[in-house]
Amino acid sequence: MNWKFTGVILAVLSIFIFACKDDSKPDEGDLTFISFDPVPYNPDIPAGWPQLEQPADNPMTQEGVQLGRRLFFDPILSLDSTISCSTCHIPEKGFSDDNPLAVGIGGAIGDRRTMSLVNVGFVNSGLFWDGRAKTLEEQALHPIEDPREMNLSLSEAVERLQNHGDYSTRFRKAFGINHIREINADLLGKALAQFQRIIIVGGESKFERAMRGELAFSDEELEGRDMFFDANLLSLDAECAHCHNRPLFTTNEFLNNGITEVERLLDHPDPGLGEVTGKELDFGKFRVPTLINWELRDHFMHDGRFVSMEDVLDHYNSGGHRPSDPDEDNVDLLIYPLNMNQIEFDNLMAFLRTLSDTTFLENPDLQDPFAGR
Ligand code: HEC
Ligand code: HEC
Repeated sequence: MNWKFTGVILAVLSIFIFACKDDSKPDEGDLTFISFDPVPYNPDIPAGWPQLEQPADNPMTQEGVQLGRRLFFDPILSLDSTISCSTCHIPEKGFSDDNPLAVGIGGAIGDRRTMSLVNVGFVNSGLFWDGRAKTLEEQALHPIEDPREMNLSLSEAVERLQNHGDYSTRFRKAFGINHIREINADLLGKALAQFQRIIIVGGESKFERAMRGELAFSDEELEGRDMFFDANLLSLDAECAHCHNRPLFTTNEFLNNGITEVERLLDHPDPGLGEVTGKELDFGKFRVPTLINWELRDHFMHDGRFVSMEDVLDHYNSGGHRPSDPDEDNVDLLIYPLNMNQIEFDNLMAFLRTLSDTTFLENPDLQDPFAGR
């Protein structure tokens, strides 16, 4: 056999082999064969509530919300696959938990209490107790990378999702990507944000229903309501509504309500907003939390220091701690001894109990998609 002839045969063979290889090995990451036809998600917002703002580049869709829901409840986003967002943000606890301070991967204890995610889509002043994250899209990536929460690098998180058949299909259906390589941290944050915007809670509380005339407040609740809102010259003004105003029962401002006893601003053990702005006058300021569904919480304040609403009211009733030097004092002027008597205290408690609404637990879109797995 001559070499020339062998060469020709080899060439023909190799063309044949390569051709076969191309045919038998389609691009495995291709997603274009899956349909992309997202359906808008219209959240149920109680009448008279503010608009739910959504970024123009991340409108809510059924597919996006459902993808975000799975990601929220899935431990795949933690290093050892033991912790999901819902480990700390438990639906039955109003999307918070029962620890004074957050407990993350390997039992690591954080510096602050897990925030309730009730109505988090309406927060427009910065997320976290100190406001350091601007959007839900951006915020969602923090706990994944936080060494004391989920401790997973974003590149590893993205790789896991790219190699997961069900998730890659869902990312295609939610965001129209053409290839698994297009799954990235940006889309991960968007999906988690879409899900969290549907955590809308409070429209069926006794408070809202009484305001709509569907049922009546008791005499104690009415008295407490007038104290809370300063609605009646004859009842004591408890000042609450200036910071916890309706319908969300928070102004979302950053304030110091005088829980921490310090003589100098820089002595605050947790600087709160001060760490974000670098301003001394912001030390010890934290975002006013919503009071909706406080009954589902076991701890109160950014450091979980109080274990009951009675403790909280004792604090406001005593006027908290105010530094003696006015230059070091940023405790809000609305914080001063209220001197409530026992009847006033009980009436305020009765009103506060009208702020509970657990009907959100029946919303199938807020339930653990892996339950009963
Ligand atoms: C280990 C417990 C833990 C885990 C896990 C966790 N969080 Fe949180 N979450 C917290 C704590 C603690 C804060 C408050 C932290 C701070 O202010 O510094 C918080 C705050 C938030 C906030 C801000 C709420 C507001 O009103 O400003 C959002 C949103 C949130 N978490 C979403 C998530 C998402 C999404 C995940 C999963 C990707 C997640 N969290 C995982 C403990 C946790
Ligand atoms: C000057 C504004 C202001 C006033 C007035 C005020 N609060 Fe607050 N409230 C805050 C701030 C700020 C926080 C968060 C403080 C922190 O965590 O460090 C808070 C936290 C709370 C919490 C804890 C919620 C949680 O989930 O941790 C409760 C409960 C509460 N306030 C109830 C009340 C009641 C009831 C009144 C009226 C008696 C009242 N507040 C008056 C600003 C105020």
